[in-house]
Amino acid sequence: MELFLDTADVSEIEQGLEWGMVDGVTTNPTLIAKQGKSYLPTVKEIAELVPGPVSGEVLATDYDGMMEQGRRLAELADNVVVKVPLLPEGLRAVKALKDEGIPSNVTLCFSSGQALLAAKAGAAYISPFVGRLDDIGHEGMELINEIVEIYSGSAYDTKVLVASVRNPMHVVQGAMLGAEVATIPFKTLQQLYRHPLTDIGLDRFLSDWAATGKTFDD
Ligand code: G3P
Repeated sequence: MELFLDTADVSEIEQGLEWGMVDGVTTNPTLIAKQGKSYLPTVKEIAELVPGPVSGEVLATDYDGMMEQGRRLAELADNVVVKVPLLPEGLRAVKALKDEGIPSNVTLCFSSGQALLAAKAGAAYISPFVGRLDDIGHEGMELINEIVEIYSGSAYDTKVLVASVRNPMHVVQGAMLGAEVATIPFKTLQQLYRHPLTDIGLDRFLSDWAATGKTFDD
């Protein structure tokens, strides 16, 4: 499974890249707003930093506006993927952008029917929001299960990108279900590394050796 960071915070991206765990980045208007920076320059800065795909979202909601902004996002760097909301005009834009060689990530997906339409439109990625479904008492991972099943029996080449991730289990369950990508907050990346038995075990190894009074070279 590929791991993308769901952030517009450059310091988090730099740390994730240093650890060798970041295959791409997804941004959205909320994440960029949190940084207090300008929109397009932030997407460009991230795209120049990250070797893999970087999703930048259109702000327009009409077809012409999404096409214009989509083209401008794509011009920022070769690895930019245009994030488009799941609307009729959005999926129309996805199809037209694909015809121009520009890949899309369809965002705000909350049903398998929506995911089916996004694949028919030719989206490179579909982003089902599992955490926001959990938040309203639905089973977010069930949506991933349904989409993976629908796509696996078809000729679509749309990748399932687990989004709105809240915890490491969303990532693990997504991988078990066969989703190709998870986009995760930096905090979830940190949590994926951690296990209390790892810390306890390491403390014991080091204290046992320290008790001998010898060093690495003795
Ligand atoms: O970037 C889209 C998605 O991952 C947003 O997540 O945490 O705002 O529901 P969240």
